[in-house]
Amino acid sequence: MSDTSAEDKKKALRNAFGSFMTGVTIVTTLADDDQPIGFTANSFASVSLDPPLLSVCVAKTSRSYETIIKADGFAINILAADQRDVSDRFARRDPERFTATNWEAGPNGAPVLSGVAAWFDCSREQTIDAGDHAILIGRIEAFKDNAGQGLGYARGAYFTAALENKAIQAAAAAPEYTAGVVAVRDSHVLLDRSSDGKYRLPSCPVSATAGAGGCAAAPAAAVSSMLGVDVRLGFIFSVYRDGVGDALNIVYRCELGEGKPARGHFFPIDDLPLDALIDVSTRDLLSRFAAEAAVNSFNTYLGDEKGGVVLPSSAMVTAWA
Ligand SMILES: Cc1cc2nc3c(=O)[nH]c(=O)nc-3n(C[C@H](O)[C@H](O)[C@H](O)COP(=O)(O)O)c2cc1C
Repeated sequence: MSDTSAEDKKKALRNAFGSFMTGVTIVTTLADDDQPIGFTANSFASVSLDPPLLSVCVAKTSRSYETIIKADGFAINILAADQRDVSDRFARRDPERFTATNWEAGPNGAPVLSGVAAWFDCSREQTIDAGDHAILIGRIEAFKDNAGQGLGYARGAYFTAALENKAIQAAAAAPEYTAGVVAVRDSHVLLDRSSDGKYRLPSCPVSATAGAGGCAAAPAAAVSSMLGVDVRLGFIFSVYRDGVGDALNIVYRCELGEGKPARGHFFPIDDLPLDALIDVSTRDLLSRFAAEAAVNSFNTYLGDEKGGVVLPSSAMVTAWA
């Protein structure tokens, strides 16, 4: 097996693992010099109620690896829905990890962070060597459930259940809505050309009787048949009502499968025809898409044509047509 195909297989496996929706945690401990260390992890799992055990997997490439696997204890902080910035900070090499985040020592000594949905302060029960990771099993010495809603993570993006519900409810309540796509392949976006030469997002009507109601199969099938290629709908990028008859529009991020689409032209994400788009809302939407794609961190817009809110999370609807 060549190196390239080994890398490809790893990437495919990582993507498949990414289909499992998880929460997001920050694993923390104190180093020998009492300095707090911590990093973002979504490999947390509850293990046992009696005795109370949990587990998390630590990459051997992590700078925290040696310290965390040898520490007497560690804490798992379950991030709340509004703590995406904390997740990002503890996942990159940011010296501000603990200065920009309030924390205090938990009852067993490991740092517990402010504002989390729940935390578990553990003693080290067992460390199991497992390939390029180690599985760390902790015995819960103390914990606190703050009853907040957790931050979700799937396919490389954050989401919150509240937003997903909002979008799904909006789609379920509408007899028909328009599904638009920011359809991407190889860092290019597919745009449709309208009769006046302006560009627009590919879009098509989806009817509730076709099984819409928040199920991704209906919009995925409709978009796939419109474009003549398989599509994978990702997170919802925008949900808005337009002025014409208060019609509901749901715009999905979407990956295009193999083959030449039946319509449209490809443009590089960083060179979209922003001055030749059909309307200002499409320009705003695509400008936001390009900016967010550059940092690989997407938000969802909820509102109408004129105004609304950009929420720091995404609703998840995924299906291959
Ligand atoms: C959502 C998310 C989940 C992650 N899950 C894990 C994990 O379970 N285990 C792990 O070792 N790294 C995980 N990482 C990667 C680490 O957070 C990242 O490599 C971090 O920089 C390690 O910090 P360190 O090198 O200072 O220890 C995750 C990153 C993100 C964004």
